[in-house]
Amino acid sequence: MKFDSPAAANPIDQLNVIGKPLDRVEGPLKVTGTAPYAYERHDVVPNQAYGHIIGAGIAKGRILSIDLAAAKAAPGVLAIVTADNAGKLAKGDHNIANLLGGPEIQHYHQAVAVVVAETFEQARAAALLIKVKYQPAKGAFDLAAVKDSAIKPKAGLAGESDTAVGDFDSAFTAAPVQLDATYTTPDQSHAMMEPHASIAAWDGDKLTLWTSNQMVGWAVADMAETLGIPKENIHISTPYIGGGFGGKLFLRADALFAALGARAANRPVKIALQRALMMNNTTHRAATIQRIRLGAGKDGRLTAIGHESWSGNLPKGDPETAVAQTRLLYAGANRMTSTRLSELNLPEGSSMRAPGEASGMMALEIAIDEMAEKLSLDPIEFRILNDTQVDPEKPERPFSKRQLTECLRTGAKRFGWDKRKSAPAHVHEGRWLIGMGVAAAFRNNLPMKSAARVKVDKRGIVTVETDMTDIGTGSYTILAQTAAEMLGVDPEDVIVRLGDSTFPVSCGSGGQFGANNSTSGVYAACTKLRELIAKKANVKPEDLAFDDGRVTAGASSWSLAELAGDEGLSAEDHIEYGDLSKKFQQSTFGAHFVEVGVDIYTGVTRVRRMLAVCACGRILNPKTARSQVIGAMTMGVGAALMEELAVDTRQGFFANHDLAGYEVPVHADLPHQEVIFLDETDPISSPMKAKGVGELGICGIAAAVANAIHNATGIRVRDYPITLDKLIDHLPAIS
Ligand code: MOS
Repeated sequence: MKFDSPAAANPIDQLNVIGKPLDRVEGPLKVTGTAPYAYERHDVVPNQAYGHIIGAGIAKGRILSIDLAAAKAAPGVLAIVTADNAGKLAKGDHNIANLLGGPEIQHYHQAVAVVVAETFEQARAAALLIKVKYQPAKGAFDLAAVKDSAIKPKAGLAGESDTAVGDFDSAFTAAPVQLDATYTTPDQSHAMMEPHASIAAWDGDKLTLWTSNQMVGWAVADMAETLGIPKENIHISTPYIGGGFGGKLFLRADALFAALGARAANRPVKIALQRALMMNNTTHRAATIQRIRLGAGKDGRLTAIGHESWSGNLPKGDPETAVAQTRLLYAGANRMTSTRLSELNLPEGSSMRAPGEASGMMALEIAIDEMAEKLSLDPIEFRILNDTQVDPEKPERPFSKRQLTECLRTGAKRFGWDKRKSAPAHVHEGRWLIGMGVAAAFRNNLPMKSAARVKVDKRGIVTVETDMTDIGTGSYTILAQTAAEMLGVDPEDVIVRLGDSTFPVSCGSGGQFGANNSTSGVYAACTKLRELIAKKANVKPEDLAFDDGRVTAGASSWSLAELAGDEGLSAEDHIEYGDLSKKFQQSTFGAHFVEVGVDIYTGVTRVRRMLAVCACGRILNPKTARSQVIGAMTMGVGAALMEELAVDTRQGFFANHDLAGYEVPVHADLPHQEVIFLDETDPISSPMKAKGVGELGICGIAAAVANAIHNATGIRVRDYPITLDKLIDHLPAIS
């Protein structure tokens, strides 16, 4: 099905099932521990041996020698694979460095060997006996130090590296009110709960991989490329995923080494990447330095908007596209954005939840707060004054839907914004300085091709199959709701099967594109199935009504089960998109409100209240959508206050490579979180009239925390995370 004109009324609009806050269909399995995650799939293949990965001890250089003798002789050892005996390997499209390092080492903890043994303990013990001699080379590890040698990268997913409209320099110089400020965001880690984990088994030249991966299609393609075998010889199964946040978009060392280990040991092999390797062995969100210049008239209208971003990556890596939102968020006639990239020899910088906008909004939305302050305008009114209903760089393109103003107004009312004192450091409660902050939320909506197969059997049970994944987001549930709505059955009579490479290829989970596109793929397949059913009933599809497990046309009525017959009926289709996304800018919007208390003695910040108001198309399931937003707000609090991979700029690695040193918010760090979804449908986005929401909630929230801290204390911190050491010397005197 090609979607190339705005969606008309369709069966989804009935909202019998869609739009209802259904519990997660796989919830009971998960809370009873019976949903097997990759490492726990003890039953899929017998005789599983254990692999343990060894990460490189240098960031850049060469392996001079590896002494395997002691490890080979250790109890239980079945095989050891290194670059010397792995055979010829290539690199998948989505990896920047090789997954197997040696003799050249490209980054710290790049995997250089795997030990396969009868037990996990034996594999780990033997791994400790391996002696690797390195010849280190000089690398670049400090973004600030290499910033000036940055180059202009090629255009990527987020568009051109640079844009310019009007005459920014003149307009900025002429502006009566100016801001020129630099912000930094640190390297961050996905730190998802389930580590990267895989079980691999060979049957002749056919490989089966039970793994944890967001994008089944990419994993198959990259594994085929890496091993040099046909895609048809690879079967991937990833039905349950314990979080990803972008860290499992790609094939990683656990999967490749399970496959190599299994081949070498002639046994199925399972591997979970050790937590202590995860931060340096896998990908992370790259640090940025961002300079923002804003110019406005005394009336508060922006006349000049400039945003430059610098980040680093390994050779052939991409930049963090932190200027993406600045091209679209506020009006202003004269604009420039630029993205610059330096070579750094740290681990791979790559996608982490809302890549680009999450980092960019951390800076831009503080800058907007600072500018409002300079103009003596309320930060909400300043944003509304500079709102736009068209793409500011290409005014002939309207937004498909844009309710930023409504989000800000609704949130202000609900949050009690009128009680905020605009002068900072004016509200105390005992030892706490209290402040409120606001920020816009913004993230693009991406149309992506997505396929599904839908079957109905003689019992009237519907089965949906697609290689879509559920990374804890609720895919199972909203896909069941979609099929139930389309075919008029109870969602309990829908079985959803996901994450298997034998199923039709979906959009996968990423970029907040999963929900809208994967349900649209199921919509397409269900539309085809409705046509088959109509044929069976000998009526026109448009004359059929589907309700309560029955199909009705005028006075005639059949049960779905009887029309399916003994053979059942099956249809497969995909959604693909025309050029609506060229004619219309499709984005999602929101407003974040935060109240903090800052301890006047210690500088400790506690978040006291949070509210997000989101406008992002039809909400398919308000419960799973809300969970996405509160999870994203939680990550935003982490980004604002604690998350930072500490770079050892001499040795070139992230020093805090475990969950003790890399802090993320826990329940005690979070207050009551409230989420409001504005009633919205977007017929430009898809037949579902939905958009993404999973990443919107992390975009802007950290700036709202920073702005609240400023309102509480009068201190403007422009370097994340805002830890107490950045506040303590500047706290107001106690009167
Ligand atoms: Mo997302 S960072 O595309 O999983």
